[in-house]
Amino acid sequence: MKTVFGVFGDPVKHSMSPKMHNAAFKDLGLQNEYHAFRVKPNDLLTAVKGAEVMGFGGINLTVPHKEGLMEHINIDPIAKRIGAINTIDFKNGIYGYNTDGIGALNSLKDENIAVKGSTVVIVGAGGAARAISFQLAEEGASIRIVNRNKDRAVSLGNDLKDYADDVTIYELSSLKSALKNADILINTTTVGMVPNLNETIATQNILRSDLTVFDIVYNPVETKLLKEAKKAGAKTISGVMMLVYQGAEAFRIWTGTKPPIQVMKKAVMEELNSCD
Ligand code: ATR
Repeated sequence: MKTVFGVFGDPVKHSMSPKMHNAAFKDLGLQNEYHAFRVKPNDLLTAVKGAEVMGFGGINLTVPHKEGLMEHINIDPIAKRIGAINTIDFKNGIYGYNTDGIGALNSLKDENIAVKGSTVVIVGAGGAARAISFQLAEEGASIRIVNRNKDRAVSLGNDLKDYADDVTIYELSSLKSALKNADILINTTTVGMVPNLNETIATQNILRSDLTVFDIVYNPVETKLLKEAKKAGAKTISGVMMLVYQGAEAFRIWTGTKPPIQVMKKAVMEELNSCD
């Protein structure tokens, strides 16, 4: 009998995870299968406990469930700091992880971008910004948070201060100043996501060829921000890699096996192309 894995979300039907993980299981000849399950917020804990007793191999949590179990299960220290989980493993009871930050870190490492000692400008102060900023701070980066809503940026900045050597807050209108002497720009907002293809947090004139520009938006694969970054001669990283690497880290936690990154990337690209 195959071991079942799944993603719990509401809505969940557009999740890329089933295609990505099933392709990886198949590639490695693992007798596992992965499905998407629509679970309402009030049913989340019951559903996760049910999955445990039914012998599920592991679960991903997506919107709106990433914060819903924090008080109810054992959680990895960095996920606790982030305040959200996206992966559950059942090998030692119900145990939660957050692989979003590792997904971003490994996307940068994959491109040989140095994070330790670098200055990273993170636009946004939501869940994705939290995961990425805590992970990169842990890795030794200086963090600059830039957000439309200043209170939210200040709140994230205060939480980060205990873990990062250097944290600064900027308003969105000061992005140009925030980019001064910075090494990496990461967009964690939804700006530029389909259908808003002409939106961008920055244009060519404030970007530089010595910057790495990373957009966590993966649909479209090349956002307007990445197009502007290319025009400025900057190195670019697509959100597809973050999607693949956060999934790959969950795969590694569940299976203890090295994830087939290229196979997972191909599955995501095929799924994205079929959505056009
Ligand atoms: P996630 O969990 O995916 O990070 P989120 O918590 O809803 O999502 O956060 C979305 C982030 O994108 C927020 O930082 C939001 O800015 P505000 O805090 O000011 O709301 C940012 N964002 C969304 N749309 C934006 C826009 N049009 N311009 C600038 N920032 C935007």
